[in-house]
Amino acid sequence: MALRQVVYIEDPMLRKTSRPVTKFDARLHTLLDDMAETMHSLQGVGLAAPQVAVLRQAVVMDCGTGLIEMMNPEIIETSGEQEGVEGCLSVPGRHGMVTRPMIVKVRFQDRNGEWRELEADGLLARCIMHETDHLKGQLYVDIMSREVYDYELEESPDEEDETEEIQEDKDE
Ligand code: NI
Repeated sequence: MALRQVVYIEDPMLRKTSRPVTKFDARLHTLLDDMAETMHSLQGVGLAAPQVAVLRQAVVMDCGTGLIEMMNPEIIETSGEQEGVEGCLSVPGRHGMVTRPMIVKVRFQDRNGEWRELEADGLLARCIMHETDHLKGQLYVDIMSREVYDYELEESPDEEDETEEIQEDKDE
């Protein structure tokens, strides 16, 4: 496994549409392993292949429930709504308020090409939407309602209500 270089917001690579994964071979597995290692090393909760300059529909996520890999993900169904803070490993040092569906049903292929389905809610639902957007060349900054500044993210013992949101504030 090896760390890959993450590309940043100005890079045109992030604005391109990724092609489907068609070969579920050793090369894909190396890419996925490298993406997971890169994501974990940067304390991210998600990473899409275009963020490491590979224009293929592959994403990795780890929202605290273990590593999830998705190839060719298709959002089948969404419901509800959640507003929360989002960041992105390709947009370092910035955060934004983004409204996402609360529940997301997604169909995807695993690293061996098997089709699977997953229903997710909360942070994982947010993460799935964020990562699949990357595959269409879309970034959260395109759809955020406002920028969230560092001082708003600082933990304060007097504001316990906000603690949950702060803990969810990880970069994808
Ligand atoms: Ni991102």
